[in-house]
Formats: sequence, structure tokens, C-alpha cells
Amino acid sequence: MATRDWNADSYDSVSVPQQEWGAGVLARLSLRGDETVLDAGAGTGRVSEIVLERLPRGHLIAVDGSQSMAQRARERLPADRVSVICSDLLTLELPEPVDAVISTATFHWILDHDALFARMRALLREGGQFVAQCGGEGNIARVRSIGEAVSSRPTFREHLAAIGEFWHYAGVEATRERLVRAGFDVSACWLQPAPTTPPAPREFLETVIFAPYLEHLPAELHAPFLDATLAELGQPVVLDYQRLNWDARAR
Ligand SMILES: C[S@@+](CC[C@H](N)C(=O)[O-])C[C@H]1O[C@@H](n2cnc3c(N)ncnc32)[C@H](O)[C@@H]1O
Repeated sequence: MATRDWNADSYDSVSVPQQEWGAGVLARLSLRGDETVLDAGAGTGRVSEIVLERLPRGHLIAVDGSQSMAQRARERLPADRVSVICSDLLTLELPEPVDAVISTATFHWILDHDALFARMRALLREGGQFVAQCGGEGNIARVRSIGEAVSSRPTFREHLAAIGEFWHYAGVEATRERLVRAGFDVSACWLQPAPTTPPAPREFLETVIFAPYLEHLPAELHAPFLDATLAELGQPVVLDYQRLNWDARAR
């Protein structure tokens, strides 16, 4: 089953910060080169591509819930060494357990981390690595409060008053406990401040951070919403990212 769709072309061009974070996460994965690795929330496959460089004799399973993102990953990645699957991670089934799961910039988009971690554990072999990074406690707190303030203005309020929560920015202790409950030994779990100025701030806000807001607004209000948030953010645009990381192994 697919999840909400993304603008894959735009994400591919603006996701420089995610690619840099992804490379750092990948460096924590210990690989011989012949393993099967699941990239959970692979997006357009840019981080998957560098995972693949570490798997000269192995196989990569790149999973994403957005049809456009999965299609872009399929175009990017070699079909003989990579299986691209469009699926919600919460319901993903694989024929064989994998040796490792890597995930970057994805899990905060999934609200039920207990269900998510249980699913990842079920897909891993005993001893398999689970190395991940996503938005954590306090992530983009300033950007979010600006988004909420702009949403409450009369022009936008009727469309955005009841949109609910899109993100789960979990803390270190809650995550460590959840991982242990799901059947993982956790060697490290930490928050890392990552203030970021994206290369194309307006497009980045449109495609990544405020995309779920814009989906609830009529097209003619997209530009005014982005103008208003950018005005509040000021110059230079600095997004107050806080990345939650963990290195764990399936018990
Ligand atoms: C910010 S992108 C990160 C993509 C890639 N890992 C990267 O670092 O560039 C987040 C991705 O998570 C995917 N995603 C969000 N919720 C998902 C779910 N429940 N199942 C599968 N994919 C999901 C989205 O479709 C999107 O492609």
C-alpha cells in the first residue's frame, strides 16, 4: 500500500542536506559487501546509491511509500542489484530476513514508532544491524511554530485549523526504551543539532517541510503561505534541525 506522495523531481534537487546526513549514517553501518540491506524510506534513491557502493557482492532493497519517489529510485538504481518496492513500511513483508536496515530522514513521518520498530525487527535476522537517523525531539521547533502562527492567520485558518500532526519527533529515552521493547540491543542513541541552510530555501520548504500543509490549501494560497513563512524565518534561512540517531542490533 502506498503512503502520501512526494514531488520526487523537486526532492531530488533540494535534498542536499538529507544526502549529507545519509552519508554520515551509512558510515556507521559495518558491512563486508555481500549482505542484503534494506533502505527503509529510500526516497529517490540518492542515499541508496551510496549504500550500494558498499555492497559490491550484496543486494539492496529500497522501500518507499510514495509512488513518485519509488519510481524515481527505480530509474536511478541498477535493477540487477536493487529491488525497489513501493510500500508502507508499517506493512512491509519480505521473503527473507535482511542483514541490516538503514533509514535516513524518514521515521519522523511515521507516527507509531512501536509498530514501526516491531516491523523492522521482524524483517531483520538475529544480530542484524538497525542504523537510523530521523528528526528527533525539538526538531525544527522554530520553523514549526512559524508554520503554526502563519496557519492561524485568517487567510489560511479555515483550511489548516484541523490538519492534525504529521510528524513524530521522539526523544532519546523513549526511543531507546521502544527499541529494547521491540527486540533490539541499543549501543547508542543520541540527538544531534544540525542547523541547516538548504540550497533553495523556498523550494525546500515547499517540497519537504510544508508540503503536508500545502496539500490542504487551494493552489492560489501556496505562494502566499510560503512568502509569509519565509518572511518570518528571516535571512539567512536557518532551519533548526535536531537529528535523532541510533545504532542497534536485533536480539
Ligand atoms: C525526507 S524523505 C527521505 C528519503 C531518503 N531516505 C533521503 O534521505 O533522501 C522521507 C521519505 O519517507 C517516505 N515515507 C514516509 N512515510 C513512509 C511510510 N509509512 N512507509 C514508507 N515510506 C515512507 C516518504 O515517501 C519519503 O520518500
